[in-house]
Amino acid sequence: MSSMPVSSPVQEYPKWTPDHELELLFHPDTIPVQVRRELHPDLHIRPLARTDYNRSHLSVLSVLTVVTDPGLAAYQARFDLLRSQPKTNYTIVIIDKPTDQIIAVGSVFVEHKFLRGLGSVGHIEDIAVNPNVQGKKLGLRVIQALTGISEREGCYKTILNCSDKNIPFYEKCGYVKKENEMAKTS
Ligand code: ACO
Repeated sequence: MSSMPVSSPVQEYPKWTPDHELELLFHPDTIPVQVRRELHPDLHIRPLARTDYNRSHLSVLSVLTVVTDPGLAAYQARFDLLRSQPKTNYTIVIIDKPTDQIIAVGSVFVEHKFLRGLGSVGHIEDIAVNPNVQGKKLGLRVIQALTGISEREGCYKTILNCSDKNIPFYEKCGYVKKENEMAKTS
């Protein structure tokens, strides 16, 4: 009899919840395969899940700005709202498989227009990487995945706003500075 251990992803990462056990925001195949291939085997990229409240989603987002905890029920109501508007909000997460916790997040919002032959524009929003793992190309992978989704959804351009400090990061991701942002805080 062979003494080789029999392994499966679930046995290898006992805490990790595979996609088929989750309620996801959109179909995981929407995420470009090439980005998946570039990730370390301990990492997994997937759409946001309804239970990601329990996987540090809000904690990771808090490196970006103030995040107040709405509680599980309100979090899931927001998830349900986003999922009720298909082909509009694509929020992705990178999961650390050994802990089943989120370490990077990002979204692309698809704006469906009347101009340019009913064209669409992808707006990249809310990119955040856990400070313990910044500088390991996870931000780059999130941007590559979101840009790929935007292109796959037929957007004629993908845009984002950022601070001066983050311009070099987005340039590394292939983005160029163009036009100006105007804002009115309410
Ligand atoms: N200045 C210069 N270069 C940078 C910077 C920076 N601030 N940040 C990253 N880079 C470079 C890296 O050195 C790397 O270059 P290389 O390919 O030559 O090695 C390349 O950009 C890719 O960097 P990553 O390792 O993928 O960056 P990281 O995983 O740390 O993610 C991010 C970058 C998202 C800015 C992260 O630091 C973060 O979460 N910061 C706090 C939150 C934040 O500012 N988010 C962006 C808000 S803008 C928006 O949401 C649209």
